[in-house]
Amino acid sequence: MSDKQIDVLVAGELNIDLIMDRLGAFPQLGKEIIASRMLITLGSSSAIFASNLSVLGTRVAFCGRVGRDNFAAKILADLAARGVDTRSIIQSDSADTGLTVALSVAEDRAMVTYPGAMDEFSAADITDDLLDSARHLHVSSAFLQPALKPGLISLFRRAKQRGLTTSLDPQWDPAEKWDLDLRQLLPLVDVFLPNAEELKRLAGKESLEESLSSLADIARIIVVKNGNEGALLQQGTTRLRQPAFLNRDVADAIGAGDSFNAGFLHLYVKGAPLAECMAHGALCGAINTTHNGGTTAFADYTLVKQLAWEKFNVAI
Ligand SMILES: Nc1ncnc2c1ncn2[C@@H]1O[C@H](COP(=O)(O)OP(=O)(O)O)[C@@H](O)[C@H]1O
Ligand SMILES: [Mg+2]
Repeated sequence: MSDKQIDVLVAGELNIDLIMDRLGAFPQLGKEIIASRMLITLGSSSAIFASNLSVLGTRVAFCGRVGRDNFAAKILADLAARGVDTRSIIQSDSADTGLTVALSVAEDRAMVTYPGAMDEFSAADITDDLLDSARHLHVSSAFLQPALKPGLISLFRRAKQRGLTTSLDPQWDPAEKWDLDLRQLLPLVDVFLPNAEELKRLAGKESLEESLSSLADIARIIVVKNGNEGALLQQGTTRLRQPAFLNRDVADAIGAGDSFNAGFLHLYVKGAPLAECMAHGALCGAINTTHNGGTTAFADYTLVKQLAWEKFNVAI
């Protein structure tokens, strides 16, 4: 066993989601409508990932930035309640906590995000001492973090030099520029975890096949998530195909990719065979879809085990 205190250090974005739910119609300028439900929840892909990975039993610490307001207090409390070490989350004096307001009509949503302190978080916030306390570094949402993105290559280089394993989920680029230098970055990323659309855009290719072959010589492990079609792993010339666990009763798929990442990395950091990591990732992605939102099905490990058995016939 390693003497490190932390298994996975998550460096990422943090925000609150304020969801106005079940609107009859989209609001019009100058008018007012009533929402029949309102939710204020822990948002952000990185927080969903950290929270669910911690519930699975991995020791997780988070590094990121929030403000000094009530939203910050909720984020810190919600992460801590799921066992995430929040001591390295910086409370900024110069920015408010990031907030996404979602207006939800039927199956669709319109969203407005105020990045706030997320815009300030940079690689300089991640000290060498913090890296040295962890076995693995995970970064998500590169394009949502403008101060972190330019320092990403040197951050991953620093992590590799200090002996950590690494993973990156790029997530969607709202600007649709897809300007990550994959040739520099991917050799430093042990597990690259995009979804199929993100990978095609990043590689600048029409098909998944072309995208994967174009990166085969520079990437270490690529895991492509593909919704209810499951996931595909490429390591050099080796491919592993993982079907999705069939869920006939999907609540929503918010956070499914983050839960897949949590399930995969929970076993990866223990040194498990890649096929087992893939199966556990797909199981956790599927479990996520049984409840609304990204963290509800991962309230505690007893619930996760119960859902795995009752919904998918898997004993964990
Ligand atoms: N409807 C679904 N039924 C069962 N499993 C699903 C479903 N949607 C997603 N998953 C699982 O979660 C993983 C990640 O979901 P996906 O939507 O591809 O990621 P992202 O959220 O990053 O776009 C999938 O690879 C799959 O294993
Ligand atoms: Mg995703």
